[in-house]
Amino acid sequence: MLENLFKPKVRSVPIKSTAESEDMEKCTEFLSYAGFDIPHHLINLTGSGADTFIVNAEGQLAELRDKIGIEPHYSVVEVGCGVGRSAIPLASVLTHGTYLGIDIIEESIVWDLANIAEKYPNFQFVHFDVKDDLHNPAGRMSTMDITIPVEDCSVDRVIFWSVFTHLFEVEISHYLRECRRVLKPNGRVWASCFVITPEVLAAARSTDLTQWALSFPNEPDASGCYINNLDVPRGAVGYAPEALTRIVSGAGLTMTRDFVKGMWSGYYNEPESGQDGIIMRKAK
Ligand SMILES: C[S@@+](CC[C@H](N)C(=O)[O-])C[C@H]1O[C@@H](n2cnc3c(N)ncnc32)[C@H](O)[C@@H]1O
Repeated sequence: MLENLFKPKVRSVPIKSTAESEDMEKCTEFLSYAGFDIPHHLINLTGSGADTFIVNAEGQLAELRDKIGIEPHYSVVEVGCGVGRSAIPLASVLTHGTYLGIDIIEESIVWDLANIAEKYPNFQFVHFDVKDDLHNPAGRMSTMDITIPVEDCSVDRVIFWSVFTHLFEVEISHYLRECRRVLKPNGRVWASCFVITPEVLAAARSTDLTQWALSFPNEPDASGCYINNLDVPRGAVGYAPEALTRIVSGAGLTMTRDFVKGMWSGYYNEPESGQDGIIMRKAK
């Protein structure tokens, strides 16, 4: 995920909403990766471009192995799976397991089903028509209406790559309560995010390392939720560590270690990831 954050600014590819993507000329270019031809316009909806898709896909798998462990027999749920950047490399690892990807962009899920699920029947994908000005403005439900469609206590790993970075507290809380419900006793949750402290903010504002000018100047309600751009509130959302700790414990989960330190702000000398991250398990 490191390269995802540090592309040259001139190559910036803004996230397009579904409505915008329908309006724009459908891209006829494809990226060939692991036997799939992935449309560029769906790759662009993940927030980065085709030039970094493969290296980020391989990087995501390496990070998952390193930080939460992935075994061939695991049951994995990925929330905000997009066009399969993690699902594709996971398909050659989860040879005896299962994978369920969830997203609110219907076109990405349709592609995932027609391609990844078609080739790997133990991989399934579900679209939820959640209204979101950035990703699905015509949606008709809210995140809080979602029940992850798996049995209680049946999942080994739940993954959120760059999803908390677009969600508000009530939505993260809902998903984490769902994680508590679906996780096996030894299950783990990985969620990348932006962890905001005064020191991190100062570094981010002076280094300006990313293509998104991440300075998080807005904390609208003093709840520890920081919004980068009030004109596009979901474009980038960060949280104070105290807020994240409150949200995690409120959902009946606990962190297995301190926050994973990301590279995005330039604050940490030895960053462990691109964004920051949280690793969680069920609280006893
Ligand atoms: C920055 S993209 C990352 C996509 C994917 N995780 C990856 O790494 O390629 C964020 C994704 O989260 C999805 N998303 C946003 N809000 C969501 C929600 N409430 N529930 C599920 N997915 C959501 C978006 O549709 C989008 O696919």
